[in-house]
Amino acid sequence: MANSRFGYVRQYELSDALLPGTFLVVRLDGKGFHRFSDKHGFEKPNDRRALDLMNAAACRTIQSDTLRQHVLLAFGESDEYSFLLGPKCSLFGRRNSKILTTFVSIFTASYVLLWHQFFPNMPLQADDGGPSFDGRIVQYPGRQEIIDYFKWRQADTHINNLYNTTFWALIQQGGMTVQEAHKTLGGTVSSEKNQILFTRFGINYAKLDPLFRRGSIILWEPEQGVSAPAEKEKESQDQGEVARQQEKKKASKSIVSSSKLVIVHEDMLKDAWWTDIRPYVLQ
Ligand code: GTP
Ligand code: MG
Repeated sequence: MANSRFGYVRQYELSDALLPGTFLVVRLDGKGFHRFSDKHGFEKPNDRRALDLMNAAACRTIQSDTLRQHVLLAFGESDEYSFLLGPKCSLFGRRNSKILTTFVSIFTASYVLLWHQFFPNMPLQADDGGPSFDGRIVQYPGRQEIIDYFKWRQADTHINNLYNTTFWALIQQGGMTVQEAHKTLGGTVSSEKNQILFTRFGINYAKLDPLFRRGSIILWEPEQGVSAPAEKEKESQDQGEVARQQEKKKASKSIVSSSKLVIVHEDMLKDAWWTDIRPYVLQ
């Protein structure tokens, strides 16, 4: 049928390939999760089961046969997840719609498949279609924009969580109405919210679970005993050029074959996270 008189309709299928050599961030966001979380009795302001489910769905997505080799880093908070693909990624010829729809469908399927493990006593309600996620792909020219992108998402997590934690403390422990809590917090800066939490409710914000304060970072970590390429390079500084090249080769091979996927809740706002703590993430 390829050469039939109907074949001309293919000309209407436009290319939507993304630019070569750019970093790609695929960001998914839960559709109507305000209502969805209410309907399924999520705890306020943070429901650990819901966040763990998002993390499990993200790990399953990253480890799927199609995407396994491609995701360098992911970050999740609330009902959203960002996945980073590198400038050399050639998945689906970098076609926007193929990449995006694959992420959205594997993530959504994973969320539904894993639901019962995290909410064993809460059946998933699907009368309105069930949980769904929308998504977009943003192209970034370089490393600095990527670092700033992930810092932006983590800073957002902190701002939202500090507000929500204080807001719900005023209601749940302080007996305020929603309107009173909003009014109390209107125009306050971070230090004032910290102060309210500490003096009125004895909550030290800095001691709250980093899962809530910082969100979740998923990355490929070199197995213990296997140095990251940057460290390998340092170790071999005193050796001759040949030895250095051999070490480098060995290190980059072992990164691929002996990395494990981990979820951490570290501070990406620190520059040292990118250069010293997790230098292999963007290599
Ligand atoms: P759209 O994304 O525009 O469809 O709207 P949305 O309703 O999903 O809201 P948005 O994505 O802006 O924000 C996510 C919403 O999910 C939050 O406002 C909360 O209502 C809800 N949510 C996410 N995580 C939790 C949680 O751990 N506990 C509770 N109670 N709600 C949560
Ligand atoms: Mg949403």
